[in-house]
Amino acid sequence: MNINSIFENNKEWIARQLALDKDYFTHLAEGQSPEILYIGCSDSRVTAEELMGAEPGEIFVHRNIANLIPNTDLNSRSVIDYAVSHLKVKHVVVCGHYHCGGIKAAMENENLGILNPWLGNIRDVYRLHYKELNAIEDTDRRYERLVELNVAEQCLNVGKIPEVQDAIINRNLSIHGWVFDVRTGQLIDLTKEFANSFQIRAQKIADIYLFKPDTSG
Ligand code: CO
Repeated sequence: MNINSIFENNKEWIARQLALDKDYFTHLAEGQSPEILYIGCSDSRVTAEELMGAEPGEIFVHRNIANLIPNTDLNSRSVIDYAVSHLKVKHVVVCGHYHCGGIKAAMENENLGILNPWLGNIRDVYRLHYKELNAIEDTDRRYERLVELNVAEQCLNVGKIPEVQDAIINRNLSIHGWVFDVRTGQLIDLTKEFANSFQIRAQKIADIYLFKPDTSG
């Protein structure tokens, strides 16, 4: 991708869209009502819309290194609050991917400066699942499993947010955990597996993270 070709590409894209629908941009300017919030990795190979076959206006997107939703991160929390409380999305998706550089970096004991606090969130996931991960002898498979478990823990982080809890109770908002396999292009839905493992810990999770529902109207 040459940066000098971008504005030419843009002109061509506008022409293509208008050839398909002359009111395309008029409709786009009217507003957005996406049903899905997608939280994925910043990795250039893991685009949000293309891999789902979605069009502009259909997906509200947040991306950062290793698709994290840290408890104190105002950026991702603001995106989630806006999507859930104002856009009223029906689904929140956390999508990780195999061969994730962020996950790989967190598995190595290297001091990466300003990246340390961010990667620390992934190291916390490793610590929480230390027994399972360390029992996996194959390093590639252990790396893949950390990608998956990180998605599971980030889904739980989404569920810790009171606005999300209210939306789950009041209008059936659902949380999904996916992994994108860059080697095949396949999207893998791990929601069921995660739901089962959360179910096992449900009472503990509820005792710790569930807020009293908002009854103020
Ligand atoms: Co990544």
